[in-house]
Amino acid sequence: MKKGKLYGIGVGPGDSKLMTVKAVELLQSADMIITPKTEKKDGSVAFHIASPYIPETAEILPMVFQMNTDMAAVERQWEENRKIITEKLDEGKNLVFLTLGDPMLYSTYMYIFRAFEGTEYEAETIPGIPAFLGIASYIGMPVAEWEENVLIIPATASPEKIDQALAAADHAVIMKVYKNWGYIQSELRKHHMIKKAVMVSRAGLPDEIIQRDLDSLPADYKPNYLSTILTKRDDL
Ligand SMILES: C[S@@+](CC[C@H](N)C(=O)[O-])C[C@H]1O[C@@H](n2cnc3c(N)ncnc32)[C@H](O)[C@@H]1O
Repeated sequence: MKKGKLYGIGVGPGDSKLMTVKAVELLQSADMIITPKTEKKDGSVAFHIASPYIPETAEILPMVFQMNTDMAAVERQWEENRKIITEKLDEGKNLVFLTLGDPMLYSTYMYIFRAFEGTEYEAETIPGIPAFLGIASYIGMPVAEWEENVLIIPATASPEKIDQALAAADHAVIMKVYKNWGYIQSELRKHHMIKKAVMVSRAGLPDEIIQRDLDSLPADYKPNYLSTILTKRDDL
């Protein structure tokens, strides 16, 4: 029997209408749609964004991905997921794996993609608009001009790494700001990047929040899981 194919699809930055034509066509013809289920619930947001294009008859498979520090448990879980996907591909099913934004930027899909890379199974990645670029257009803030550089870093990185990276940045995109907001705020102040900083939560979704005066937010503020900061140095 001909094996099925695995497609990793980026659903873009929130607004369903910003998905690519290719992603929509694949969703409409897929045999099964996999939505990653993490404790952060980003898989269900990806599903919500893609839902206008998912046929009622489509088979949906929520797949659990643990994100804890017990690496042995995490690896067992990924191996389990790889096995499930392999079985479906052996049955000849074409599978679509949904990811927020673009599949190649901080996404669970990369683990799956690597597991099948160089094997007899075919996988194809369909890019999506990454959340930070969607946000740049939504709020009208160019991410870089002329010779300026752009730093992309998750707030979950080590304090030293964030500090060194911001010291060299003209513009910065800080993702996963649900963690370590107090530290990020102090770093933005230290590197003269707080004045122009904008935090956008749940961009493109009906309950989107745009916050501009980040200097006056309390240090113990808890941003939504889907929050990204775009900023640049005060003198730019
Ligand atoms: C696991 S990463 C996924 C990134 C995604 N692959 C991309 O290309 O944007 C999750 C982080 O992406 C950002 N993000 C994704 N969608 C977002 C949205 N609609 N609004 C704001 N931030 C978003 C947030 O920083 C969030 O913590």
